[in-house]
Amino acid sequence: MRRLSYTVLAVLLPAALAAGTTVESLPGPRVNPWSFELLSNSRFSVHSGIADSLPRQVLANVLWAMNRAPRLGESRELYVATPDNVWRFDPGSMTLELHRAGDRRYSSGAAFEVGVACARHEDAGFAIQAGLLAATAFPDQGAAGCPMKWAADHANANWDPQTEILMTSVFGRTAPEVLDSTLVAFSSDTSLPAPHTFGPDTFELVLMNLAQDTAFSSFAISLETAAQLLWAAYGVSPHHAWNGRRGLTVPSAVAGYFLTGRVYLVTGAGVERYHNRLPGSNLTTADHRLETVVVGDRRPELRLASSLVPPSAPAYVVVCCSDTASYQHVQEAGFAGFQLLCQARALGLSGHLAGPLSPLERDAIGIALDLPLDHYPVLVFSVGEPATGAPEPDMPLPVEITRGRPVIAPGEVLRVEYLLRRPGNVRAEVFDLLGRPVTRLFDERLPAGYHSFEWDGTDGQGRPVKRGSYVIGVFGPGSVAQHKVAVF
Ligand SMILES: Cc1cc2nc3c(=O)[nH]c(=O)nc-3n(C[C@H](O)[C@H](O)[C@H](O)COP(=O)(O)O)c2cc1C
Repeated sequence: MRRLSYTVLAVLLPAALAAGTTVESLPGPRVNPWSFELLSNSRFSVHSGIADSLPRQVLANVLWAMNRAPRLGESRELYVATPDNVWRFDPGSMTLELHRAGDRRYSSGAAFEVGVACARHEDAGFAIQAGLLAATAFPDQGAAGCPMKWAADHANANWDPQTEILMTSVFGRTAPEVLDSTLVAFSSDTSLPAPHTFGPDTFELVLMNLAQDTAFSSFAISLETAAQLLWAAYGVSPHHAWNGRRGLTVPSAVAGYFLTGRVYLVTGAGVERYHNRLPGSNLTTADHRLETVVVGDRRPELRLASSLVPPSAPAYVVVCCSDTASYQHVQEAGFAGFQLLCQARALGLSGHLAGPLSPLERDAIGIALDLPLDHYPVLVFSVGEPATGAPEPDMPLPVEITRGRPVIAPGEVLRVEYLLRRPGNVRAEVFDLLGRPVTRLFDERLPAGYHSFEWDGTDGQGRPVKRGSYVIGVFGPGSVAQHKVAVF
């Protein structure tokens, strides 16, 4: 992971002090050194034992992130209760405007509580997830958050919001934490490669560059990229919920995990269902696998089912729930949707969230994909390479080798995984230590994202190479990565 030193992105904006209005300035968002993937793997809800002191920088980052989250509806307002007052957040000037005087928090231990006032539960979900990751990015401060339905009820009764607050997150200080990169998402049937819990960009940079695109090139995403996206959306992480269930990258009301078995990948190959639990749906277990539901390309039917779905994307992730009237289900789809958009951006891919879906569109998508009758689509996420090619990067975006064993025995196959931050031509070649070419493994045009290849320890004529050290060069667009391996 590229580590950035702590940097203040924006200078403190002068507060426009309107006559008679109390306005407080917040600092600009700080870029913390943690990747989106590491934060997703480390997030968990803190239910009790928080203290009501956190630096203003945490509040600033949380509000900035929640405001950067995507939106399907027309507007979304953020209200903040601190021990002093209730405030309305103005994202344009990074200021807090006094809304109601006095301490109106739900939890006396909270440093601040943020209420999301909007019309759509998907939009509340996007913002809540953004705020939770933003707080997780301050482990040294012990910053922690938890969405709380009762706090939202309390806010509606006591904060006087102009629009109903659909969900509130409570934030406070706990003991300083260390972020957790432990990988627990392994496939029980080898259907999906393991995801990466470290990523290339800091969460704040991903958020800063968050955008939605509706035009894609036709290049298929790799299975490694699909695995990463599905894990980010609804994958298992190392912590456990209060009731012993295995935690996920996203929270869930009463740890009900309402989207379990309801996230689908749609590609040219067919329709596949993502599972984060072992067969049998025991929510204490962990898995990371795909089950084939339909063999054959159903993308044309999916595209016809809703005009909101961009027609050119090579892959779609359809997030479903079992009850579209339940705020818990729809907000959870929002959490997953936010994760998908961030993960795509972190991999250099374009993404788009389609919604809200009408009952007719839900039915049409269900028929198009042969979904079970109680799997109701809430969001359709499109992902792929931008149609116009990747935007010119401001800085070199190197090919990074992400996995590969340093030693192989005769007859063994070495699998190398790498991350391509820009689409383009990629070739992999094996050299001996004198730099003499041994074999060329492949040379092809690939989309951005995670990829892998294998070397079976043979030369260009298929003969096993001699014992010794070799270097595999992965030549990407404008950069090269090397992996050294000993064959014995
Ligand atoms: C919509 C929603 C409402 C929640 N309401 C509460 C609540 O009222 N009280 C509480 O302690 N936790 C609440 N939570 C947090 C869940 O209990 C928590 O997400 C779940 O136990 C999973 O644990 P994790 O977030 O640590 O993974 C809520 C979570 C969501 C998504």
